[in-house]
Amino acid sequence: MESQVERAWFDDVMVPCYAPMQTVPVKGEGARVWDQNGKEFIDFAGGIAVSCLGHCHPVMVNALTEQAQKLWHVSNVMTNEPALQLARKLVSLCFADKVFFANSGAEANEAALKLARRVAFENYGEHKSEIIAFHQGFHGRTFFTVTVGGQASYSDGFGPKPQDVTHLPYNDLSALEAQISDNTCAVMMEPLQGEGGVVPPDAAFVEGVRALCDKYNAVLIFDEVQTGNGRTGDFYAYQGLGVTPDILTTAKSLGGGFPIGAMLTTDAIAAHMKVGTHGSTYGGNPLASAVALAVVETISSPQVLQGVREREQWFRDGFSALQQEFGLFSEVRGKGLLLGAALNEEWQGRAKDILTAAGEQGLLLLVAGANVVRMTPSLVISKEEVDEGFARLKRALASLTKA
Ligand SMILES: Cc1ncc(COP(=O)(O)O)c(C=O)c1O
Repeated sequence: MESQVERAWFDDVMVPCYAPMQTVPVKGEGARVWDQNGKEFIDFAGGIAVSCLGHCHPVMVNALTEQAQKLWHVSNVMTNEPALQLARKLVSLCFADKVFFANSGAEANEAALKLARRVAFENYGEHKSEIIAFHQGFHGRTFFTVTVGGQASYSDGFGPKPQDVTHLPYNDLSALEAQISDNTCAVMMEPLQGEGGVVPPDAAFVEGVRALCDKYNAVLIFDEVQTGNGRTGDFYAYQGLGVTPDILTTAKSLGGGFPIGAMLTTDAIAAHMKVGTHGSTYGGNPLASAVALAVVETISSPQVLQGVREREQWFRDGFSALQQEFGLFSEVRGKGLLLGAALNEEWQGRAKDILTAAGEQGLLLLVAGANVVRMTPSLVISKEEVDEGFARLKRALASLTKA
């Protein structure tokens, strides 16, 4: 047995589709992470909007260890208690009547897209197959979801793509009005674009999308993989927008770090999935469902949701102070704890430099494109952790601006 695992092994034995930081984390607690050398990081990244209760929260550890001693896996030839409890909890928290469990955001979206196509096929016929989505949108990496996502650089180069997918500019209602027709089966959107630069929708746009979907009998799919489970201060972001989708997908924070995804929909739409139309060996397995149930019960409480709004202000205040000192940003946008600090003209293209400098100072950040520094921390991060994170960010910006 080798004693010391090294980052260099990544380049030897891993498929090179990532470029991970040089540091290798080995332990986490709350919003802090430590690497192999004992260096401490404040975590404003939250594992890309996943670690909603921070690292190793006792609620998750207890749920996992209790379930680990009872039952791990049965597949879908049987159902299981944690999955049923979780499904009931989720439908009690939103518009949906029915749940399909998957293992990731991409799989939840794959299910949503297949279901939308099936509904249109069965209700209206083969011609109704167009899926409309938006530039810069992100929906996952399966071939269908990456094709629906609005970044050709991710979907090009793999041969023929799934057909009849149209991309339009986000927040441009007239473009949608001009394109949507009786051939459109679904419109898929993030109710706040995450990967695409932390771009919120205009109220009139979301309302208009809903009205056009109704007019043309198209299913409205909200991808809440990043926005869901309390991240924007509502349990689901659609609840803060006042526009209800027909299908909603969720993953990331749903398991707080344990892989699980879900597609939620109405009875009428769910009825188009018959036995054998879709499935997943692991989807809704007892371990993932038990952890997700504990996570959802905790984060759906009014205290946690109110706490997200309070924490948003801590972050906005932190950026205002940095802006006064360094003047690098043009705006901070987003909602709740899905926030993006957009760089000004002079700093265009330098989000990655800020992420690297922050890492050196012991702060984990994310980017959303080349010009936006993104933060998706734990929903229960403490004031002390936020203050310490901003102190480290200040040192990072000072080192960069001096250079
Ligand atoms: C909005 C959105 N949808 C889907 C996905 C894909 O989720 P996963 O990586 O779990 O497949 C992501 C991941 O970043 C996302 O942000």
